Amino acid sequence: MKSVKIGDINIKKPISLSPMAGISSLPFRIICNGMGAAYSPTELVSARSIRYNGIEKSLRYMRISPEEEGITAIQLFGSEPDDFTAAIDTIMDTPVLKEVSIIDINMGCPVPKVVKTGSGSALMEDPQKAAAIVRECKKAVQGLPRNVPVTVKTRTGFNADDKGRPDFAKTLADAGCDMICVHGRTRPQMYHGESSNEAIAVMREAVREYGIPFYANGDITDTASAKKMIEQTGCDGIMIGRAARGNPWIFEQILAGLAGTEMPGYPGAVERKKMLIRELEGRLKYLPEDVAVREFRSVMPFYIKGLPGAAAVKVRLCSATGIDEVKEILDLV
Ligand SMILES: Cc1cc2nc3c(=O)[nH]c(=O)nc-3n(C[C@H](O)[C@H](O)[C@H](O)COP(=O)(O)O)c2cc1C
Repeated sequence: MKSVKIGDINIKKPISLSPMAGISSLPFRIICNGMGAAYSPTELVSARSIRYNGIEKSLRYMRISPEEEGITAIQLFGSEPDDFTAAIDTIMDTPVLKEVSIIDINMGCPVPKVVKTGSGSALMEDPQKAAAIVRECKKAVQGLPRNVPVTVKTRTGFNADDKGRPDFAKTLADAGCDMICVHGRTRPQMYHGESSNEAIAVMREAVREYGIPFYANGDITDTASAKKMIEQTGCDGIMIGRAARGNPWIFEQILAGLAGTEMPGYPGAVERKKMLIRELEGRLKYLPEDVAVREFRSVMPFYIKGLPGAAAVKVRLCSATGIDEVKEILDLV
């Protein structure tokens, strides 16, 4: 993979953690970046909620640490251009958040609660609105002393029979979007079935002439699938979602695989448990212990997946309430 430029930001190795609600915690993003991810966006945060409920309610989902992360990105979702303007103005008035490198717009979320409001993947059905959102976001960052690129993450379609939405990709690029990332599934597929590299390629070709970086996402689990994605779509960068859960090593593995250098060995039980605790301790820095552990229950099993005895330990981790208890349970695996 060659380096790319998102706005004025140089991305040497364009491989990123794909944003995931409940997974993309600040400590996990720091860990992934340490393993080679160029940057890792926050999970989706409601622009409308920031506008009407204030930043406090959303802060925990959009916490960034430029010092520890390097390049940072906050992902917003919404359906009204004005909500994005207000949300960005608030972000740019908030300590630390105002240092964010990239604003990413979610135009791919398939969850009915989000789609019903005209947000996420529903914007694919309203390209004029989608374009207006990109334009308003670009306007909102214009007066800042530094260039803050606006990127969009979307899908290959809203309907089951969509085989890519080249016109939608063009609409985004025409509106001034600085990077587009496409997940190769349609909205009704949610996260099931196969991600289509062919459908991604159709959208990639549609915006090639604009010269903005194009990222592809969907079902990348190892070097072979990363290579296939790059070759079949002609993308400039890739994002990895589910395969990175509890497995931040995937970034160094794929980077080494793509570079043709020796792959680091896959971590054993001790290293994986250590990493789990490192992420949990990171979460404890900004959450009360019971909340941090409760929220981490669904993530912990990914760290120990495949280890002998993991099945029984997973069940116990799902009712853990404190870090000491987590450590005790982990001693069993
Ligand atoms: C639990 C979960 C939460 C997700 N949350 C978001 C999100 O907040 N924003 C977003 O753009 N995509 C979200 N996604 C989609 C992923 O970023 C990614 O596009 C999708 O999982 C496909 O990539 P993969 O096959 O590498 O997992 C989520 C996916 C999962 C599984």
